[in-house]
Amino acid sequence: MEILHLPPVPAPPSGAAPDWTVDQAWSDYTAGEHATWDLLFERQSGMLAGRVTPAFLKGLEVLRLSRRGIPDFAELSQRLHALTGWTVVAVPGLVPEAVFFEHLAQRRFVAGRFIRRPDQLNYLQEPDVFHDVFGHVPLLADPVFADYMQAYGAGGLRSLRLGALDKLARLYWYTVEFGLIRESGGLRIYGAGIVSSYAESLYALDDASPHRIGFDLRRVMRTRYRIDDYQQNYFVIDSFEDLLRQTLDADFAPLYAELETLPDIEIDTILPGDRVITLGTQAYARARPGVH
Ligand code: PHE
Ligand code: FE
Repeated sequence: MEILHLPPVPAPPSGAAPDWTVDQAWSDYTAGEHATWDLLFERQSGMLAGRVTPAFLKGLEVLRLSRRGIPDFAELSQRLHALTGWTVVAVPGLVPEAVFFEHLAQRRFVAGRFIRRPDQLNYLQEPDVFHDVFGHVPLLADPVFADYMQAYGAGGLRSLRLGALDKLARLYWYTVEFGLIRESGGLRIYGAGIVSSYAESLYALDDASPHRIGFDLRRVMRTRYRIDDYQQNYFVIDSFEDLLRQTLDADFAPLYAELETLPDIEIDTILPGDRVITLGTQAYARARPGVH
């Protein structure tokens, strides 16, 4: 049953609006911060051709993201809005789930305004402007993916009312952040967590370690994930249309209720019904015991 009253959303930090947004203050970025963006941008866009879904490259182009420096959200939003009705708004850091979902449901993508330090080029815990904008925004220029993200936001608010956020969060993780897609030329990356990481962009497609399994909604929502290292398991969608249809058309309420009665699936498990695309060796994860 849907719980009608949600706990109140925490108040935003001082200086932020009630919806947690802040001014990007684009003119405050230093030359060094813009240079960090340029370095990351060149490294990623150079290696992604032939690895990422063509829709991502098209998004980079139509949004003119290849121009130098950290993008100005106001200008980027103008272009994006004309294409799919989405805008990009700045937030101080991670925001409460309800705030995040509410923005998505209104076709607003929240992005951190800060950029990583030069000693964090390969890895950082909190999403920065490079992950958020380079990783996520290009696909928001794709009409079908844009609809999926909005539907996910509305579904997120519903999952909070149903007490099922943990299940729905796995869907985000295994699609929006770490998804692979089958294209005519072979497997390609589309997840933002992969796209914004040099090393995982290589590992996710080429390494023998991880399993690559055909997307199955119920399976994904039961599968645990790791936040501290490369994934041991990727799920492969057939197309954005198929992902949108499978998620939009299903009423998740009975699904959540059913999944509540089933055990979680461990990250390295293969089940009898899985459409296995690559059976991973799991060698990478096994060589790093204790990293969990
Ligand atoms: N169909 C889902 C529900 O009933 C909502 C949803 C759509 C969730 C698309 C994720 C992605 O809750
Ligand atoms: Fe992200």
